[in-house]
Amino acid sequence: MKSISVKSRHQDYRIVVGQGLLKKTGSLLKALGLRGKVFIVSQSRVAQLYAGPVKKSLRQNGFAVAEHNLPDGEEAKSEKELFQTYHDLLDKDFERRDIVLALGGGVVGDLAGFAASTFLRGVPFVNIGTTLLAQVDSSIGGKTGINLGQGKNLVGAFYPSRLVISDTEVLKTLPDRDLHASLAEVVKYGVIRDLKLFSLIEKKTEDILAKESSILEKLVLASARIKAGVVSRDEFETQGERMILNFGHTFAHAFEQTLNYRKLMHGEAVAIGMVCAARLANRLKLFPFSETSRLVRVLENLHLPVSLSGLDLDRQDILSGMLHDKKKRAGKLRFVLPTKIGRVIIRENIPSKLLKEVVDESLGK
Ligand SMILES: NC(=O)c1ccc[n+]([C@@H]2O[C@H](COP(=O)([O-])OP(=O)(O)OC[C@H]3O[C@@H](n4cnc5c(N)ncnc54)[C@H](O)[C@@H]3O)[C@@H](O)[C@H]2O)c1
Ligand SMILES: [Zn+2]
Repeated sequence: MKSISVKSRHQDYRIVVGQGLLKKTGSLLKALGLRGKVFIVSQSRVAQLYAGPVKKSLRQNGFAVAEHNLPDGEEAKSEKELFQTYHDLLDKDFERRDIVLALGGGVVGDLAGFAASTFLRGVPFVNIGTTLLAQVDSSIGGKTGINLGQGKNLVGAFYPSRLVISDTEVLKTLPDRDLHASLAEVVKYGVIRDLKLFSLIEKKTEDILAKESSILEKLVLASARIKAGVVSRDEFETQGERMILNFGHTFAHAFEQTLNYRKLMHGEAVAIGMVCAARLANRLKLFPFSETSRLVRVLENLHLPVSLSGLDLDRQDILSGMLHDKKKRAGKLRFVLPTKIGRVIIRENIPSKLLKEVVDESLGK
């Protein structure tokens, strides 16, 4: 078991990464001085697969356990599910010192974390991410929240977990497409901060696609270390550093919005967005063409899309989407651009001609 520490103004916490950690849940919570009842928030498929060892270990360590399942999919991050969660917590007599534990992907973690941050003005929260996305991204950094009809993640709080447990064995049962999409975020960490990680993905693509445990553990560990470092230094996204995690995302958000969040998974949109950002950097003479090709190759080998062809998208819709995003971010359209693999810079005032060119190239025009 490897451990990474995360700094937070609220309370520092640890991320533990390893194989077979679910059965240590109880002892890990006990070691933190937590006690009382544990409210496990999950989804039926994940609970069927993984709640067993978690419950057993909690009970063996003196915790009482209650379970609450959310429906599958992004719709679960809703007002209705949030309030049902509060009601269930009350029905089951949960109190201030009791614990909310998320067992699932980013959807479960975001809703359960927000419920924990607000129920009785905040109860301890523990996050067991069971998707690759949760282990490398959403379980780290304390962002929690739900969606409203008007958009995603519009209500939420920064509420760090008391502990993050990433058992990489659970990744074996992930559907291939989920795994591949989340690998885009791992490639992202390589490009923004870690040439070694990037080279490891290049070398071990076959093992990664075969969901080989030891390589997945290495990827989770390296990614979690990078995210933990960034959010420890810039917890509330005020210093600028946390922004580098958005590499590829300015484009990706515009693609996702234009497609109404259909057709592309988030990670797939990020893969295409990273290629656009690399090409933009190339046009600005910041990043060599050969490195852009290297990025394209690694993404293709991970079965990720690298262009918008076949998606029936319109260039103008995409560009308007980016401008809309800019309005929301106090008028500045910023791009995270690579200068070499392992290093990025932030640039504003990109000529719209260049943006059009890279979007057209992605559309195959
Ligand atoms: N809080 C943050 O910082 C942050 C960061 C990035 C994304 N997010 C959020 O994360 C969400 C997406 O998360 P996600 O990609 O994990 O999707 P998800 O939570 O919807 O999980 C995907 C699917 O996989 C199933 N599943 C989970 N673990 C499994 C396993 N081990 N084996 C088999 N099936 C399993 C789930 O039941 C679900 O159907 C979005 O709502 C996004 O906004 C949050
Ligand atoms: Zn992302």
